[in-house]
Amino acid sequence: MGDDGGRRVVLVAQRASGSGRFRLDDLPSTSGRLDVHLRCLRAAFLLSHGLRRDVTVELVLLGDREAPRVVRLVGASLRFLRPDERAMAVLMQKILTAEVGSEGWHEVRPGCFVSRGGTATLEADWHPENLLWLDETGEDLRAASLAPGPVTLVLGDHHGLDDATRAILEGRGAKKVSIGPLSVHADDALAVAFNELDRRASAR
Ligand SMILES: C[S@@+](CC[C@H](N)C(=O)[O-])C[C@H]1O[C@@H](n2cnc3c(N)ncnc32)[C@H](O)[C@@H]1O
Repeated sequence: MGDDGGRRVVLVAQRASGSGRFRLDDLPSTSGRLDVHLRCLRAAFLLSHGLRRDVTVELVLLGDREAPRVVRLVGASLRFLRPDERAMAVLMQKILTAEVGSEGWHEVRPGCFVSRGGTATLEADWHPENLLWLDETGEDLRAASLAPGPVTLVLGDHHGLDDATRAILEGRGAKKVSIGPLSVHADDALAVAFNELDRRASAR
């Protein structure tokens, strides 16, 4: 059935800035399209009036000299997240420009962590069950059978997934699932996938 124990979302941003050096008034062209990922944060965390506390999102930033870096946002301890892109971009800039040591995870604000490394730094925590690779060519998520327990969803950006992440997903036997026949924006794919998981959870 899936989804007891929370949802984890991994977004691989092939061109997005790991340095925080981008312009808030021109985010798409100066951040490597971090705007796409900020919209994914909104889709993953925000309800009409509230924040999904059982969600963790990891943004894998592969795009510039500071890359690879991962920003992890943990719903259980995030203080709040504003829905507008500019406010989220400011938060990302604060996280990415915080003074941190080189090794391990650093909590730079409540529920906001940053670490060096790419997807490989995350895979040890992935549950082999319900490791879902969101891909247009996968089996229909509506028909997919999921085990009880947490769900991890891995998505690409407008360039898809990088080869290293693909190899990790293949090695771990991730299930490729599709939310429909057309290739849609990552935030829309996430919203549809979450809706399917919400429906399953409420049907129990
Ligand atoms: C804009 S799409 C990427 C398109 C890119 N050209 C590619 O080849 O992957 C961004 C991400 O959204 C997810 N996605 C988009 N449409 C989807 C669908 N119909 N089913 C499942 N995931 C989808 C995938 O994870 C994809 O990497």
